[in-house]
Amino acid sequence: MQEELKSIAEKARLEINQAESAEALKAVQVRYLGKKGRITAVLRSMGSLPAAERPVVGKLANQIRDDLTAEIAKREDQLRDFARSRQMAAERLDVTMPGIPQPLGHLHPLTLVMDEIAEIFLGMGFNIAEGPEVETDYYNFEALNIPKDHPARDMQDSFYFGSEILLRTHTSPVQVHTMEKTAPNVPVRIIAPGKVYRRDDDATHSPMFHQVEGLAIDRNISLSDLKGTLLLFVRQMFGAHQQVRLRPSFFPFTEPSAEVDMSCVICAGKGCRVCKETGWLEILGAGMVHPRVLEMSGYDPEEYTGYAFGMGVERIAMLKYGIDDLRLFFKNDLRMLRQFY
Ligand code: PHE
Repeated sequence: MQEELKSIAEKARLEINQAESAEALKAVQVRYLGKKGRITAVLRSMGSLPAAERPVVGKLANQIRDDLTAEIAKREDQLRDFARSRQMAAERLDVTMPGIPQPLGHLHPLTLVMDEIAEIFLGMGFNIAEGPEVETDYYNFEALNIPKDHPARDMQDSFYFGSEILLRTHTSPVQVHTMEKTAPNVPVRIIAPGKVYRRDDDATHSPMFHQVEGLAIDRNISLSDLKGTLLLFVRQMFGAHQQVRLRPSFFPFTEPSAEVDMSCVICAGKGCRVCKETGWLEILGAGMVHPRVLEMSGYDPEEYTGYAFGMGVERIAMLKYGIDDLRLFFKNDLRMLRQFY
């Protein structure tokens, strides 16, 4: 019986070491050490042995059972190690493998131009102000010296919600919000970039477009401050050779008012089709803040003066990048947008 035990143990060892998976190993364990296993069977049949042999065989059988149990545990560890290193080899980062390209978005050209405009004015000591896109008649017109039946309202017909609330037609109402907040303190130096809305739609007009408003109030502000500031702006935006000129114009909220031109970016002032042979391109409206506007929002016009300007961002962007149709900004055609990183 001892010989038989030894040969069973031998076979079990072989099978343990050949088991290639936890499941196979478990099966070997059951086959030899389980309730109906071969070693167990031998132990059970010991009753038929002569009494003198029993302790010897019993001791050997127990010894073999303990040995096999230990070997199974060892093989188990070994299999676990193998599995782990196989997994690590599979997961190792191959830095030479080509990556999956992640498409990256970027800012819209109008945002880029607006940021650039803001950057230039921030550099001259202006702060950024904001106002709502849905305005009351008071802020959009009344407080800017455009009374209810004034013909100037026809230039900026808007989208109304009832009779008193509308989408702002320009960023000028931010002048009023700003003055109400800061009056009577000076200096005021703000720009207000944002969306505006008008009932217009063609190659150079969109029902929604962008403006950057400017406002400066202090003692002794004059038209030459306005012109100097705009000259600096135009030179930083379009090049050091640029010139500006002011042409008399009319806005109800500025007096005097001007249309501001800069030298044509296409022909450098010589005269071409784009500037209609004048050498000049109109880029914004401006003027000295009307005394009545100052007064309505809390500034004494006897003590303070100010200038204001408002420029169309689309127009600036079209001139800067040579874009001839404003609608291209809003078509979301990636072939166009991708040119502006
Ligand atoms: N708000 C005017 C417009 O939209 C522009 C402007 C702003 C003119 C400030 C003068 C002063 O046409």
